[in-house]
Amino acid sequence: MRDPFIDVYPQPGAIFERGSGVYLFDTSGRRYLDLLAGIAVVSLGHSHPGVTQALQAQLAKLGHVSNYFRTPPQVEAARRLTGRFDFDCRVFFANSGTEANEAAIKLIRKARPSRRTIITFEGGFHGRTMGSLSATGWGARNQAFAPLLPGIVTVPFNDPGALRRAAQEPEVGGILLEAIQGEAGVRPMAEELAETVKEVAAEHSLLVAVDEVQAGLGRTGRWFGYQHYGLEPDVVTLAKALGNGFPVGAMVAREEVASAFATGDHGSTFGGNPLAGTAILAVLEGLEAIVAPERAELLGVQLRQRLEELPLVKAVEGMGLMVGVELTEPVAQKVYHQALELGLVINYTSPSRLRLLPPLVISASEIGAGVEILGEAMRAVGGAL
Ligand SMILES: Cc1ncc(COP(=O)(O)O)c(C=O)c1O
Repeated sequence: MRDPFIDVYPQPGAIFERGSGVYLFDTSGRRYLDLLAGIAVVSLGHSHPGVTQALQAQLAKLGHVSNYFRTPPQVEAARRLTGRFDFDCRVFFANSGTEANEAAIKLIRKARPSRRTIITFEGGFHGRTMGSLSATGWGARNQAFAPLLPGIVTVPFNDPGALRRAAQEPEVGGILLEAIQGEAGVRPMAEELAETVKEVAAEHSLLVAVDEVQAGLGRTGRWFGYQHYGLEPDVVTLAKALGNGFPVGAMVAREEVASAFATGDHGSTFGGNPLAGTAILAVLEGLEAIVAPERAELLGVQLRQRLEELPLVKAVEGMGLMVGVELTEPVAQKVYHQALELGLVINYTSPSRLRLLPPLVISASEIGAGVEILGEAMRAVGGAL
């Protein structure tokens, strides 16, 4: 029988039917330890009781009304989320990371009408809709979808000189960046680049938007990845962990910038509906309850130390529970498949790089168990080389 799916993803190695905490169960009932968390989404673990119960109750009460109206969960989610930032800000709710970034691109352009060009970085990933894709630093890979959005300039990552040169152009009004590049295999920005971002933003009055879709909400050991660098962004985008699996996105903007949007400038049918608001509230409560940043920091140190002892490992990079593992050989795909065979879910971002993004509720012993299995997978792959 022909596969009914359009072929944009690799063939899946498993069909998962059920999840609980850090475990997934396939259709035959087999258990897998999940060190990917649905790509940094399920930070509170699968089927988290708080999120599940809140969503069930809200669905029975009110599911959707459109953004012509407000609902209590939406209002409360907006208050609670903006309250997480140490600056005066407002929020726009979307359904995904790419939509949050589309909103950010539009807002920067509206707020800097005579300087609409935005600087982005090679290796940065911001989504797959045309605006966010144009801002995604994948070079030639994007050309299949040309013409891309004009007014985006992509400079090499961690090259402060290139940023400085690009920022001098009079048409530049903003910068969009990931403090820790996720899809590139977990690559933190260099301190020097962060300092240059601060400098050029101050010098040329550029708006700084930080994409925290993957790194945000505690994963890196701080609530937001940019806090590791003392950046003071004007715009922050979020998605993934904000819904723990319920599709949500958010763009948070500093008050002075947020006010550039007027009624009708942007919108969404579903964004921030009562279900999304409920999910966001339950997630923020859950993350606060486990003190997510501290937990990720502590467990991240243990995870990275253990990974360094494994065969085939050349370098371990990352922050908190956002970890990239550079291998000595281009066997990441083989290690991934072998790990899956052994009941472990991980991810690879290039032929020689693995990525681990475990749920933040994982325990030290579960991390130990995961590293054991990964080691076994690496020994099996390494032995066959
Ligand atoms: C940093 C970053 N930005 C944006 C996106 C796009 O998010 P979504 O897939 O929800 O559109 C992703 C997804 O991986 C991401 O990692």
